[in-house]
Amino acid sequence: MRARATTIAISGKGGTGKTMLSSLLVRYFSRYGSVFAIDADPDSNLPEALGVKIKKDVGAVREDILDIRADKVSPSMTKKDLFEMELLQIIEEGKAFDLLVMGRSEGAGCYCTINHILREVIDTKSKNYDTVIIDCEAGLEHLSRRTTRGADIMIVVTDATKKGILTARRVKELSLEVDIEFDRIVVIANKVTPETRHIMEELGRENGLDIIGYVPFDPLISQYDAMGRSLLELPEEAPSVSSAYEIFGRIRQEAEEKYRKRGG
Ligand SMILES: Nc1ncnc2c1ncn2[C@@H]1O[C@H](COP(=O)(O)OP(=O)(O)OP(=O)(O)O)[C@@H](O)[C@H]1O
Ligand SMILES: [Mg+2]
Repeated sequence: MRARATTIAISGKGGTGKTMLSSLLVRYFSRYGSVFAIDADPDSNLPEALGVKIKKDVGAVREDILDIRADKVSPSMTKKDLFEMELLQIIEEGKAFDLLVMGRSEGAGCYCTINHILREVIDTKSKNYDTVIIDCEAGLEHLSRRTTRGADIMIVVTDATKKGILTARRVKELSLEVDIEFDRIVVIANKVTPETRHIMEELGRENGLDIIGYVPFDPLISQYDAMGRSLLELPEEAPSVSSAYEIFGRIRQEAEEKYRKRGG
């Protein structure tokens, strides 16, 4: 176990394959150590991709806590204690990984204190794992909300479209603007075909993006998703899985080197 986990956040345009790649990341990294998966997309679907049923999400706990009147909390326990306890209880503990689902974001009202506690609980809890994987919501909102603050690697997923590339470029630019420092921002191009690969390479260069790998369009993924089957069951020899694993192998090696240099 490490003093600090390697945190990998996955972002990008809607429907590009963030959840698909997040679930493969969970599967890959859980072979090498403990994994904490966080579904930070309000329109959550990482649990299905991982074949897990969750009891409750953070959004629901947050609302419950806000609804409790201060005088109804027992004197020996503050709302903060209660919130912390509930958060730890809703983390699904599996054999290969643990999972926390954030759920819907806040409604009206002041959530600053409660979000601060949430941040603290996640930061403290994350230290118990080798790898933390965060499946973000589509677009850029998570950057301004700083959900992904503190990630070591931000993987921006694009599909084989110019729109996907332009979103990736905006994620990179905005993270510099709002001063969120990732050690690295990299791009994975997903659903790529032999016809589109060179176009993506060209677009990546033009937009100053570091495309670290290409995952092919794989009909097996659509088939599994259509049937609501967990992507953890995809055969390893499937072209999508083997290309993703090759990319993740490089990410893991880099994280190991960084860890060694830090003197871990
Ligand atoms: N390599 C691939 N080959 C074929 N289909 C794929 C591939 N990757 C993802 N898909 C399909 O693309 C769709 C979107 O994938 P996924 O849900 O992982 O994207 P997402 O970025 O998480 O979407 P959202 O923005 O809605 O959260 C799914 O229907 C999935 O089956
Ligand atoms: Mg998703």
